[in-house]
Amino acid sequence: DVFGKPGRQAVQRLVPRLIAREKVDLVVANAENSASGIGVTPDSAGELLAAEVDLLTSGNHIWAKREIVPYLDKPGARLLRPANYPPGSPGRGRAVIATPDGRKLGVLNLEGRVFMKALDDPFRAALEGVEALRAEGARAILVDMHCEATSEKIAMGWFLDGKVAAVLGTHTHVQTSDARVLPRGTAFITDAGMTGPHDSVIGVETELAIRRMRTGMPVRFEVATGGVRIEG
Ligand code: FE2
Repeated sequence: DVFGKPGRQAVQRLVPRLIAREKVDLVVANAENSASGIGVTPDSAGELLAAEVDLLTSGNHIWAKREIVPYLDKPGARLLRPANYPPGSPGRGRAVIATPDGRKLGVLNLEGRVFMKALDDPFRAALEGVEALRAEGARAILVDMHCEATSEKIAMGWFLDGKVAAVLGTHTHVQTSDARVLPRGTAFITDAGMTGPHDSVIGVETELAIRRMRTGMPVRFEVATGGVRIEG
């Protein structure tokens, strides 16, 4: 999860260097909170794509900025929304991207349902998405499981073990310590963490987040600035 301007700047400064140093083939980032900490705009998406990110995923905040809706439907748009939104929703839930030498990676974006909106079944959408990506020539598949509950993300990891290269959790902005390769070869982590300001409450100015929790009143959130780091 790339959070707000500090997150975008961290990507711009560090990702091209990481690509060179680690000889990274392809980069996928979750951009759903890349615009002012909630939602994604054509500008925030464009900044990340210009910083050598190949494809963007998203999640529950995909509709937060209305200007993203026509962008999602543009041919060749490199921004996904979760695949298990109802049929007819703008945008796409999967894409195939390729390395310069032509190796194809399929990317599937899903959203969980535990403590989240009531969407279509992400497990069924996962099977359909994997089958479709294989038919579209993907040799490896990466799944972004955007989800609140650790249990639902872990269940998806086991469900897709051996069917995809990686199931990576996003949404909770705190990197978990359970990165592993499951028995049938699928890489898994419950949450890949946040690229953005870590002196914060999951990206938000701490004082504002605490005030909202203590008063139960609406408080306008602002993006924090301190402790910026890249995670993934
Ligand atoms: Fe989210």
